[in-house]
Amino acid sequence: MRKLFVAGNWKMFTTLSSARQLAQGIVDGFGENEKVLVGVFPPFPYLLAVAEIVRGKTIVLGGQNLYPAAEGAFTGEVSPTMLLDCGCQYVILGHSERRHKIGESDAFINQKVHTALNAGLKVIFCIGEKLEERDAQKTNQVLERQLTTGLAGLTQEQVASVVIAYEPVWAIGTGKNATPEEAEQAHTFIRGQIGQMFGSANAESVVIQYGGSVNPNNAESLLAQPNVDGVLVGGASLKVDQFSAIIEAGMRVASAS
Ligand code: PGA
Repeated sequence: MRKLFVAGNWKMFTTLSSARQLAQGIVDGFGENEKVLVGVFPPFPYLLAVAEIVRGKTIVLGGQNLYPAAEGAFTGEVSPTMLLDCGCQYVILGHSERRHKIGESDAFINQKVHTALNAGLKVIFCIGEKLEERDAQKTNQVLERQLTTGLAGLTQEQVASVVIAYEPVWAIGTGKNATPEEAEQAHTFIRGQIGQMFGSANAESVVIQYGGSVNPNNAESLLAQPNVDGVLVGGASLKVDQFSAIIEAGMRVASAS
């Protein structure tokens, strides 16, 4: 049975004080909850402050990126060791904003995935097609390429520490989410690909989140899909009441199943 995973990607938002308030609000509501896994991904400068607030609670902490080296002369970058040192258990890799706004390649993301897992971090590995790719019926082709290149060379054991986030680029920050049926279709395809690459046990256990304009109104119907095992939330994760409503939707779905 896969545990639902609701994660908040704060992107380049919050201040030190609003990050603390947001983390405290989530801890107050869900810090002892075991039903749904809840994660927060603050900007690097606020990781330590948020780590103090979530310490000893059931909320997990993660970074939004890393550089694929333990240390070195890489001005402006952050290593997996540093993330672990700050209390992170997870890191988001391959986010569409890094792929398409910063220009990260599949091969570079693959290096990051290896470095993160070798260091002992768990990975939320993001994939998703652009609108023109969906319109050209190339969604599955894009997902297959991102999976085969991004997860190349991983062992079956390592894949157990990878969460996949299906985030169609056209749905991110646009207010236009994939329908539950569209999400379910993509997730089923992704699970099948994981099966081909890493065997049926990994396909069965891999957690696949949906991301892209998730909000309190659409979360429950998305999470109710059999192959949607969680959500990666951007905008709506910045407000305690909205993020809480999404977690509560997850708790209802978990209780019903
Ligand atoms: P959004 O972002 O919820 O604001 O669409 C999701 C994401 O980029 O992870």
